[in-house]
Amino acid sequence: MDKSRKAFVDLVDKALAAASSMHRDELLFSYKGILYPTTVCSLEVFKALESFEARRDDVILAGYPKSGTNWLSQILTDLIAISQKKTPGGESSANAEEEFPYLEVGDTEKYERMTKLPSPRFMVTHLRPENLPKSVFQRKAKILLLIRNPKDVATSFYHFCNGLATLPSYETWDDFFTDFMTKKMAWGCYLEYLSEWNKYVDQENIMTVTYEEVKENRALAVKNIATFFGIPLTEEELQLVVERSSFQSMKKKSDKTHGAVGNVLFRKGCVSDWKNLFSEDQNEKMDKAFEERMAGTKLGKKLKYDVYCKA
Ligand code: A3P
Repeated sequence: MDKSRKAFVDLVDKALAAASSMHRDELLFSYKGILYPTTVCSLEVFKALESFEARRDDVILAGYPKSGTNWLSQILTDLIAISQKKTPGGESSANAEEEFPYLEVGDTEKYERMTKLPSPRFMVTHLRPENLPKSVFQRKAKILLLIRNPKDVATSFYHFCNGLATLPSYETWDDFFTDFMTKKMAWGCYLEYLSEWNKYVDQENIMTVTYEEVKENRALAVKNIATFFGIPLTEEELQLVVERSSFQSMKKKSDKTHGAVGNVLFRKGCVSDWKNLFSEDQNEKMDKAFEERMAGTKLGKKLKYDVYCKA
């Protein structure tokens, strides 16, 4: 197995083993009004996280579950690895991959260990901005905010919940949709997530990217992301990152890079799969909720809701 992905694969295996003896009701717990998966998060780690000291040159990817965080994670770790003349995906290609890349997932000692990692440290987070450690904004660490149209996020999340034992499964899509719309998801309500992050989008240290735009033009997205983080790569090096991040290429290697979760995670990788699940009534409900929360906001516009969530 790829050594640099060991932390990821090991943690997934541990979480799956723990979930196998848990009742559905025990799989999520609430912290500050938001639900989190019991097998990978804990109150102790959330407390320890408060002491996390961000650095100005940290590379942070923020995205709600199922918005493509594993995809953009690879793009970012490849950019960092190549800029350090390491082989992307090779052993210790990115320093922070020695730790599970999700900031809020790990053990209470993780943040102490992270103080010893050389810069730039890479991390991902599903947290809402107000729940991130204060130092992230104080130090002005750069954040790539990844968003995806809410109908595809819900669709992807539904299949993920039913494919992965660490999350509560659903007998029907209708049951899932009700929970998705009434804030009963791990990491909270997606529309709330968007409206909270919308308060931060004007900060110069934050760049927003949509799943749909990366899908449409990966080469341009990779180039813009590299520029934002000040990672100077040649056209040839950028092209390598682009090639390695195709859906087919990532799916093919997923058992090595993501272990038991790979198969479930790299599902379809397309835009508009929601059309296979949403009923007319559910479309109306989501359209109305989006209008109420996000209409006229920067992130709302960026998502191009009319293009990706209507018709
Ligand atoms: P689908 O379930 O719609 O296929 P996350 O990593 O945040 O959990 O998001 C998972 C979603 O990103 C899944 O969506 C997955 O297929 C998609 N994804 C992962 N890698 C991708 C890639 N290289 N290109 C396009 N989509 C990708």
